[in-house]
Amino acid sequence: MKGKILPHHFIKMKREGVKIVMITAYTYYQALIADAAGVDGILVGDSLGMVIMGYQSTLPVTLPQIAHHLKAVLNAKPKALVIADMPFLSYEVSRDEAVRNAGKLIKLGADAVKVEGGTEIIDKVEAMIKAGIPVMGHIGLNPQRYLQLGGYKLRGKTVDDAMKIIEDAKALEEVGVFSIVIEFTVAEVAKKVTEIVKIPTICIGSGPYCDGQVLVFHDLLGINPNPPPFAKVYVNGFELFKEAIKKYVSEVRQNMFPEEKYYYRMPKEEYNKFNALLKEKLKKIKHS
Ligand code: KIV
Repeated sequence: MKGKILPHHFIKMKREGVKIVMITAYTYYQALIADAAGVDGILVGDSLGMVIMGYQSTLPVTLPQIAHHLKAVLNAKPKALVIADMPFLSYEVSRDEAVRNAGKLIKLGADAVKVEGGTEIIDKVEAMIKAGIPVMGHIGLNPQRYLQLGGYKLRGKTVDDAMKIIEDAKALEEVGVFSIVIEFTVAEVAKKVTEIVKIPTICIGSGPYCDGQVLVFHDLLGINPNPPPFAKVYVNGFELFKEAIKKYVSEVRQNMFPEEKYYYRMPKEEYNKFNALLKEKLKKIKHS
């Protein structure tokens, strides 16, 4: 696709059968790398709580933290659609708060926002869309609800749970979300949702039948040594970076770094003058 990707392009890609590829990013260089690699969407996810801040869950993440990382990502001027995650309690309390908080991220330059949940937050999603804000839904496993769900558990295994996921997807489509993330849900249910709704589904840990896939930057690149079981690790980033830093440590200790090309010298004549002057000065200090 030529030019900036916008939410309606995602819908077009589904219609044309082109798979949508997304990744999370939280910093300027991560966004530059992701965009150069040709992803369609960059999610400034609340996963930053875990992979950037080292929290045990995404619950402590705040709107200012998302805004901070969103600004860094936007500085890369990505061609990819930039979606800002709405953190826990930034949209659940009231329609007004949901619109105001989503509006803050849009005013900063996000192309869309993402919220976790289905029927239980549908009035807030509707209010944001009515205000002109493109919204991406997120169903199946909602990490912001892990306490209620009893952990990060696979969704859709029972008929009741599968029906709840279908109901969530339909409700989100009806109020006008432009796409839906389906997280850690059995593939059969993700497939049914993908067939039933006209908007694209983006999967993470929910199988191959969706319209697109999303992975967390640190999982894909192996920077997170404990990625979720559904994340494919394309390179062992942790080992790669660790080995490079170990080499640096060793070279400094052995006086191998910095080599000649990594530092600068004074012009010879200037150095001789400086040396003579310094000698005089030091002599005076000694005798005073
Ligand atoms: O915050 C995040 O990274 C996400 C993905 C798991 C989709 O919501």
